[in-house]
Amino acid sequence: MKALLDILSEKFENAFEKAGYSREFGKCVVSNRPDLCEFQCNGAMAGAKTYKKAPIMIANEVVAALENDGVFKSVEAIAPGFINIILDDNFLTGYLNEMSVSEKHGYEPAAVGKTAVIDYGGANVAKPLHVGHLRPAIIGESVKRILAFDGYKTIGDAHLGDWGTPIGLIFTEMQARNPSLVYFDENYTGEYPDECPVTLKELEEIYPFASAKSKEDEEYRAKARQAVFELQQGRRGYRALWERIMDISKADLKKNYGSLNVYFELWYGESDADPYIMPMIEDMKKKGIARISEGALVVDVKEETDNKEMPPCMLLKSDGAVGYDSTDLATIVQRMKDFAPKKIIYVVDKRQGLHFEQVFRAVRKAGIVGDDTELFFLGNGTMNGKDGKPFKTRDGGVLRLEALVRDVSDHVAEKMADRELSAEEKDEIARKVGLAALKYGDLSNAATKDYIFDIDKFTSFEGNTGPYILYTMVRIKSILEKYSSVTGTSTDKVRVSVDKGEIKMTAGGNDSEKKLKLQLGLFSENIHQASAELAPHKVCTYIFELSNLFNSFYHENKIIAEENEEKRKGWIALIVLTLKVLESCIDLLAIEAPEKM
Ligand code: ARG
Repeated sequence: MKALLDILSEKFENAFEKAGYSREFGKCVVSNRPDLCEFQCNGAMAGAKTYKKAPIMIANEVVAALENDGVFKSVEAIAPGFINIILDDNFLTGYLNEMSVSEKHGYEPAAVGKTAVIDYGGANVAKPLHVGHLRPAIIGESVKRILAFDGYKTIGDAHLGDWGTPIGLIFTEMQARNPSLVYFDENYTGEYPDECPVTLKELEEIYPFASAKSKEDEEYRAKARQAVFELQQGRRGYRALWERIMDISKADLKKNYGSLNVYFELWYGESDADPYIMPMIEDMKKKGIARISEGALVVDVKEETDNKEMPPCMLLKSDGAVGYDSTDLATIVQRMKDFAPKKIIYVVDKRQGLHFEQVFRAVRKAGIVGDDTELFFLGNGTMNGKDGKPFKTRDGGVLRLEALVRDVSDHVAEKMADRELSAEEKDEIARKVGLAALKYGDLSNAATKDYIFDIDKFTSFEGNTGPYILYTMVRIKSILEKYSSVTGTSTDKVRVSVDKGEIKMTAGGNDSEKKLKLQLGLFSENIHQASAELAPHKVCTYIFELSNLFNSFYHENKIIAEENEEKRKGWIALIVLTLKVLESCIDLLAIEAPEKM
């Protein structure tokens, strides 16, 4: 289905043309004066300069030229040259009835046949998932779902940090504690055991210990570096140990990401880019864009117009080791070869912005990425505590993601203590609502912004929160239950009848009904925008408004008690569409709704 604003704009473009003006002025927008009108066309104001004519004259001519085939209730040119538009209720209701029976509520995917790779994991192996990985995971999963809704074939990559210093530190410490481990014996030629020699719990103690020690002990640090180097060179025992650690670590990360409803199509790590690094470097040398600088091999990415520091991209460090830059460069080589994506999107802490700018410039310069592929760095801001600093545990330590999710769910559970539900039901609801509170609290802020984690605000059942949206959905479900019990038709059947167009919305009704309908009618615009701007917060804004409008409608109309059966059915169709749209939208945010609350 054509989006509502496109239908209106097309009518106005025709009118501008018919009146002798350029079509480009016909664009319609949602009114910023809802007290006066629903939509407006401001093209006459813009056209006044081009045509050296009073805007109101243009506006009058356009209104006169406008073909009104039942779309508009009123179209009015007003001084100094705005055109105010009110939609015909029959037209709007018909549009919504068509949405009801259409796939994706009539949304026309814009990107069919294109591929998008989204890099939004970045967790580091052998370290627990902590709060710093929360935002990329939540935002990335949502961006991925929005793009998939828009027709992209989407590939989410976990891009685990599996190859760098932390692994070297862990090896060094493990060897210090247990030198006779077979993995460290260079002369060993047999099979290595299947079992990992350490547990995850032990690793979580070993890593911080080793990390602290390396800060004070130069020799220890050198050993760790050497271990990474040898691992990357393929030393047998190290490879085997690394694989064992990867296995237990990945399994744990999958579980943790899964509990956030975050799922990756690819569980690649930085190590998967390794085979691409040397050929890439050779190619850059051949192209003459790599140069030696203080013993290291670099690519210059500075441009004349830069007014900030722009260091070169590092291909090989002076000791010959590869680092974060080369890994990301080679990962792009790999992605281009495997997927030829239209977009590659990185959802990573915004403090890594410079790194990605260097990398993006280098891959363009090297011809690894051509004009057909867009590279995006969606740098996320931090989640801060009430003190305005990055969120920490009470004792100042790094907060584990699991613990945070549990805290929020517990908070929700407390609020529901007096509900008459079984303990299991309560647990399940608290988990879903808690997760929604956390995610919505995050996603409703633009990705790049920092925000303050406020547990009371996020878990409130009122205001722009996840629980409020879910509560609205549960309310609609309970109205449908009631309707089903008075009519003796199951709610599933009712929903199917709406989907098939057997139960339809009717025109008429009060202002609150019209407003709800208008917001539903704007579904496509809003999702298109969220997709084009990679902006989950636009979905939040849309459903918050939709929920508010639904609640006003609900308070002003007695749905179940309505005696006119056609009208009552019309309302049922209206609230079913509202529910369906909300369901689709929360799915785009990777939020789940409980049946009850
Ligand atoms: N592992 C990195 C970190 O914890 C984040 C990785 C982000 N993604 C990337 N392609 N560099 O800082």
